[in-house]
Amino acid sequence: LGRTLYYYDEVGSTNQVAKELADDGAPEGTVIVAECQTGGRGRRGRSWISPARKGIWFSVILRPRVAPVQAPQLTLLAAVAVVAAVRERTGLPLGIKWPNDLLAGGRKVCGILTEIKAEIDAVEYIVLGIGLNANLEAGDFSPEVSPQATSLYLELGRPVERLPLFQRILSCLEKWYERWQDEGFAPVREAWKEASITLGQEVRVNSWREVFQGVALDIDDEGSLLVRDAGGRIRRFNSGEVSLRPV
Ligand code: BTN
Repeated sequence: LGRTLYYYDEVGSTNQVAKELADDGAPEGTVIVAECQTGGRGRRGRSWISPARKGIWFSVILRPRVAPVQAPQLTLLAAVAVVAAVRERTGLPLGIKWPNDLLAGGRKVCGILTEIKAEIDAVEYIVLGIGLNANLEAGDFSPEVSPQATSLYLELGRPVERLPLFQRILSCLEKWYERWQDEGFAPVREAWKEASITLGQEVRVNSWREVFQGVALDIDDEGSLLVRDAGGRIRRFNSGEVSLRPV
């Protein structure tokens, strides 16, 4: 990964650039990284605060030969890779909230936005967009996200060197991607479960149709979350928003 790397001082959104490059035939492994995003995007149409030189804002183009149903596995894979890289470089253990929020001290420190272009039976490309709050200070966050957001700097009490961390994330991503191609989803699933802070918890899932409350039991081999409600009914979610403390 990163054999071809586009580096921008400022860009709207690295995911947007990645999709345009992928549409123009950019090869697998192309990486787009920016010091600053003026229109950084999060999941569910939200914006992503990406101030200059304070975070690690990048996207990777992948072209796996798999069916579209397997694509969400790569989001979980990316979460696993970032957890490993951050732990190796800083010692900070991050927890994964399903599907792909990385938390430190209960607050979000990294988000992953996966965008897929696919035919019915084959993936054309996947853009994995990763936003890691490295050296953001409390005042960098908007008042709305501030209570739920943090950075490595705020958690560690010292700034982190972004370049070696970025390099480590890319090498962990590459290692896990190769392993996924050779061995399938099982090892990713095990690593994801080890870092999960969702499983075994009472959760509320806000999916597009409903709100469902119960105990998060497991993830299945597509990466969907299995939740059991008080009546013993088990539901499976392939997308949605999880809150860990039901109200
Ligand atoms: C989330 O909502 O949790 C996902 C946030 C993803 C942010 C990253 S930053 C790099 C890439 N470019 C974007 O516009 N978004 C992703």
